[in-house]
Amino acid sequence: MSRRVTLNLGFQGNTRDVTVVIPDDEPTPWQWGERLSVVGKPTPRVDGPLKATGAAHYTYDIELPGMLYGAILRSPRPHARIRNIDLSAAEHLDGVRAVLALEDREIRFAGQEVAAVAAISSDLAADALKLIKVDYEKMPFVVDMDRAMADFAPRVFGSGSNVGRTSTSSVGNVARGLEVAANTIEAAYTTAVQTHVCLETHGAVASFNAARDQLTVWCSTQGVFSVRDDLAVYFSLPPDNVRVVCEFLGGGFGSKFGATPEMIVAARLAGATGVPVKVMLPRGDEHRSTGNRPNSEQKVKLGVDRDGKLTAIDLVQRGSGGIGGGAGSAGPFKSIYRCANIRTEERNIYTNAGPASPMRAPGWPQGCFALELAMDEMARKAGIDRLEFRRRNSDNPVRAAEYEIGARAFGWAEKNSSPKSSGAFKRGVGVASAEWHAVGVPGPEAQVIAHRDGAVEVRVGTQDIGTGTRTILAIVAAEELGLPVDRVKSEIGDTRFLFSVPSGGSLSAPSNTPAVRQAAAHLKDKLFRIAAPILGAEPDDLEASDGFIRVRTNPSRSLAFADVCKRIPGDSISAQGERVANYEGFRTDQAGCQFAEVEVDTETGIVRVTHVVAVHDAGRIIDPLMARSQVNGGILMGIGFALFENRRMDPMLGIMVNPTMDDYKLLGSLDVPRIDVTFFEVANGITNTGVMGLGEVAHVASAAAVACAVYDAIGVPVRSLPITPDRVLAALGRA
Ligand code: MOS
Repeated sequence: MSRRVTLNLGFQGNTRDVTVVIPDDEPTPWQWGERLSVVGKPTPRVDGPLKATGAAHYTYDIELPGMLYGAILRSPRPHARIRNIDLSAAEHLDGVRAVLALEDREIRFAGQEVAAVAAISSDLAADALKLIKVDYEKMPFVVDMDRAMADFAPRVFGSGSNVGRTSTSSVGNVARGLEVAANTIEAAYTTAVQTHVCLETHGAVASFNAARDQLTVWCSTQGVFSVRDDLAVYFSLPPDNVRVVCEFLGGGFGSKFGATPEMIVAARLAGATGVPVKVMLPRGDEHRSTGNRPNSEQKVKLGVDRDGKLTAIDLVQRGSGGIGGGAGSAGPFKSIYRCANIRTEERNIYTNAGPASPMRAPGWPQGCFALELAMDEMARKAGIDRLEFRRRNSDNPVRAAEYEIGARAFGWAEKNSSPKSSGAFKRGVGVASAEWHAVGVPGPEAQVIAHRDGAVEVRVGTQDIGTGTRTILAIVAAEELGLPVDRVKSEIGDTRFLFSVPSGGSLSAPSNTPAVRQAAAHLKDKLFRIAAPILGAEPDDLEASDGFIRVRTNPSRSLAFADVCKRIPGDSISAQGERVANYEGFRTDQAGCQFAEVEVDTETGIVRVTHVVAVHDAGRIIDPLMARSQVNGGILMGIGFALFENRRMDPMLGIMVNPTMDDYKLLGSLDVPRIDVTFFEVANGITNTGVMGLGEVAHVASAAAVACAVYDAIGVPVRSLPITPDRVLAALGRA
């Protein structure tokens, strides 16, 4: 059974009515302008105190009786065949309980898993690793992308080429678009490999039952259910016999989907020893082996006509994800700006380095950097204001509105036209456009429970990657039940709860909140049926607000929510909700723009970001505090990408030379600029909450805006990230 609902969608000054058909048991979507009591109000992170006091349990904090400590031996060689592994000395070390040789006989990067041990302490496990003797047959290797493309380069994968399949896209005729252009530019841009640097490294604690047919794994993951499914396959167990728990995790950014090697190692060692085993990766392993954002070289051509309209966008790109793929960066070129002639060509180059994994808007920050700096180079050549140039080439009304809001908040007109200082310190400003698609997917189911004491619990098998999922889910349930947020507790991070999707792809908020809202609505109906006879009304005539259940037409006839709960016949009453399929909405994409101001010391080449203004749309904002925190994080990660982060490989040894927190430079607290975030609310429809994800879109434009600001400051583009002092000085030298 279904019903029709008309929604007024869009934004101030640009709305339209859309009639959608929704299932009968789906709550009516919140309308734009509908007065909500807790949604949209700043609510502090409900688990903030637990995190701040150290009471939150991360995987590292899991301690089980009799637990052993596992450690993984990794290849120091970038390419080798293992002739033999001698485990006997390690096996005979006192306190060692199990030693495993892992199956892979061909090593393709320095850091690949070779063997593992379980011992009674982590120090002993580390000692035992040193006793394992591996006889490697050295093989030629290549870690440099350019060298890997050469005809006689060592092959990463046997006889296969190091150059992956070329992926092309084309609309219109780029050659023609360049021919008719009044102005063209052509330049090459490069970005470095960035590692995820999750503050909590990858790790797991695994425990089998005595019969070895029930496996429980506590792990740091973005997807408890995907880990469960992978482990079930690996160990040939029914998925129901595998339980995965992740109460808290310290970041993932795309590197923690599915069962990763350390989880499988922990479970194998647990199976071999009959006791629980914990494996937490050291920082070096985290940098080398658990994923990264591939590097890129992007050759860009742009053409514009006399009116400053793009006539051609051409990208020839290559990138290396080590032994992994997914190095493309064409996304922004294909969709941020309107152009009739667009051609992109992407190639993945294999090298003997750790595998890439998805990383916060995969491909987009590097693509956005090249596209936006090229846009600035073109604007300068064509003599058009950079913001005006972007406006002219965008047909997204949301983005147009955001440019205005951002320009005003940033003071673009004034800052962009103020003369450069004649001194050593040069200020510059830049603007870049973001885009992402985060409307969520069906799949999650939620349970909401009211207890006799009036407490409410939300249970969903999602996990909090750090975005504040517990808080957001509690807010949505509280809104539906007319309660303050502190009456609702969210329980997540356990496959014993109902299914949910991984926390990636900016899926969490738009996929989980509608399921929670539906479950809360169903629970409310049940409570109304308890309250109705007492209030002498029909259930349909009741409403829930301010902690009361009352007769809509006569609010003085009411019962406190907690008093209704006292009449629950058993201990509790619960209801389920599901995330139904997306229905029609306003847009499925998100725009967003970021403005950055930098100060460049032209004597030392040091760049400091002083101010960032971010304007983003993400449908309905559930909690502006959590949302702002997402945007702050996206920007800071982007500044790190722009100025500091660079996984460096030694071409002669084939190893990462900076796998530490000292040598792999991250942004520090003194590098944090003033950040102003504005949310442009768009009534987007699509689900009953109208929420869109924010984690990735907030990161797409950040590095690009900084690079554009550096160009403005020194008058010459630095076309390679990170923009290190030497590169700034070299660019100034060329100028
Ligand atoms: Mo992400 S790269 O969708 O965790």
